[in-house]
Amino acid sequence: MSDRNLSINLDRLLSRLQALGQIGALEGGGVCRLALSDEDKQGRDLVIRWMRELGLSVTIDRIGNVVGVRPGREPGPPVMAGSHIDTVRTGGLYDGSLGVLAGLEVIQTLNEAEITTTRPLAVAFFTNEEGSRFAPDMMGSLVFQGGMSVEEALQTVGIDGTTVEENLNRIGYAGEAPCGDPKVHAYVELHVEQGPVLEEEGVVIGAVEGVQGISWTEVLVEGVSNHAGTTPMRLRHDAGYIAGATIAFVRDLALRLGGDQVATVGSIEFTPNLVNVIPEQARFTVDLRNTDEERLQAAESELATFLDNLAKSEGVKISRRSLARFEPVAFDPSMVERVERIARDLGYSVRRMPSGAGHDAQILARVCPTSMIFVPSVGGISHNVTEFTHPEHIEAGANVLLRTLLELADAA
Ligand code: GLV
Ligand code: MN
Ligand code: MN
Repeated sequence: MSDRNLSINLDRLLSRLQALGQIGALEGGGVCRLALSDEDKQGRDLVIRWMRELGLSVTIDRIGNVVGVRPGREPGPPVMAGSHIDTVRTGGLYDGSLGVLAGLEVIQTLNEAEITTTRPLAVAFFTNEEGSRFAPDMMGSLVFQGGMSVEEALQTVGIDGTTVEENLNRIGYAGEAPCGDPKVHAYVELHVEQGPVLEEEGVVIGAVEGVQGISWTEVLVEGVSNHAGTTPMRLRHDAGYIAGATIAFVRDLALRLGGDQVATVGSIEFTPNLVNVIPEQARFTVDLRNTDEERLQAAESELATFLDNLAKSEGVKISRRSLARFEPVAFDPSMVERVERIARDLGYSVRRMPSGAGHDAQILARVCPTSMIFVPSVGGISHNVTEFTHPEHIEAGANVLLRTLLELADAA
C-alpha cells in the first residue's frame, strides 16, 4: 500500500481507549488512575502488553517511564510519540491516554501496511505527568530530560505521605534502564485541547506553538485554634480566613492582570476542620499560569506581598513552598509548521494555539524538536469525569500524528 493512503483504524483506537478507561473506572463515568497507584500499575501492565503484542521492545527506566521502540532501517534515535496514562482523581478517558494509544495505533497501522521507516519509532508514557499525587507535574519527563535528578524524584513525598520510590517498588515499576534513554530525534504528542477554543471556532486541529508557564505553590498558615462562639473577631489568628482571602485575591489578581493570566486554589485542608473551632492550620495550593514569563513573575510577587501583609495583620505564620515552576515554552517553529501543513493537506481545519495545560512535550522540547497536536474537547471540559472528544476528531488527530511521525522518521 502506498503510505499516502494510509490511515489509522478508529474503532481499534477507540476500543483501546475504552479498555484502558475501564481501569480505575469511577462509578458514573470517568477514571481515577493517580500516579503509581494500583490502578496506574494495571494500566501500565495493559499498555505494555499491547506494546509487546505490536512487536515493540519495551524498556522501563528508574523513574518508571516506559518506552517501546520499533526498529527503523537505520539505527539511531527514534522519532517518539508519547504522553501519560496517569490521571487526576476525577479524570476523563482522553487526557494523556489518547497520545499514548494513538501512538500504538500508528505502530499497528504501519505494521499492517508492512512499512519500515528509516529511523526507529517509539511510543512512550511518562510517570506522573499530572502531579496530583506527587509534585511537580511532568516528573517522569523531567527526570528523563535531566531537569530533576532521579534521586530527588524518588524521595518526593505525595499527598498520602508515601514516597515515589516506595510506590514504584510496590507496583514493580522501578525499572533498570538509565533515565534519558533512548535519545530522541523528535517528539510529537497528540492531546485533547482541554479548553474551549477549537470547539468554539469549529476548528479540528490545533498546531500547538508552546505551553504557558506554570507556578505551583503550597501555602501553610499556622494560626491559633479557639472557640468559634467566644473569641471576638479582633482576637482571632484565623488560618481559615487567610485561605479564604487568598482564594478571592488570586481570582481578582488574574482578572486584573488580564491577558492569559489564570489562577486557581485547587486544594485546601483545615485543621482541625470542625464547625465550631477557628482553624489553627490551613494548607492550600495556588496554581498560577501565564504565557508571559514576566507577567507570571509579577503575579507570583503580588501573591507573596499579599500573604506577607496578611500574616502581619492576622498575627499568623505563613510559609510558602514551591511545588512546581516551569517557564513558558515555545516549540520548534519547523515542527509547528509541519503539523499545520499536514493537517491542511489531510483536509482538516487547523489553527495555531498555545497550550494552557502542562504536558510532557514542554519538557521533551528541551532535548529535541517537539510539537503537539490538539483536538477539540467537548465543552472545553477536562480534569473532569465528563471529558469527551468526538470520535471523528480523534481520528483526525491520530491521522495527523501518523503522517507527522512518518515524515519525521523518513526525512533526511
Ligand atoms: C497537567 O495536566 C496540568 O496542566 O495541570
Ligand atoms: Mn495530559
Ligand atoms: Mn491532565
